[in-house]
Amino acid sequence: MYIIKGIVATVLVAALPLAALAASEEALAKSKGCLACHTVDKKVIGPAYKDVAAKYKSDKGAEANLVKSVTTGSSGKWGQIPMPANNVTEAEAKKLVAWILSL
Ligand code: HEC
Repeated sequence: MYIIKGIVATVLVAALPLAALAASEEALAKSKGCLACHTVDKKVIGPAYKDVAAKYKSDKGAEANLVKSVTTGSSGKWGQIPMPANNVTEAEAKKLVAWILSL
């Protein structure tokens, strides 16, 4: 009984900060206007973030490339519509890209 309680407590303690972190990154994406063109799981104007994560799953340089796409814009990788440069700092872009790749 104590062991089970201990496991449940450990899982809860481990999961809570992760959920809070994802929520804060989603809020950042919202506040930066990303979610006007993107959603997590449906293509809108830009690709779904889950599709971005899947496309770059085994690409080791993806994080740096995507930070560049987010800060300076991107075109020709997903279709006809380009993404304009976004009003984010490099640190914010890194945070957003790490979140996107974790989806
Ligand atoms: C005006 C609409 C628009 C906004 C705002 C926007 N995006 Fe995009 N995004 C796009 C489009 C369109 C593409 C596909 C571009 C292409 O084909 O290269 C894209 C592509 C991407 C990609 C994949 C880039 C690649 O190199 O494959 C990432 C990651 C991304 N967006 C993240 C973000 C983040 C984070 C924000 C907010 C800071 C954001 N986007 C804001 C439209 C937008």
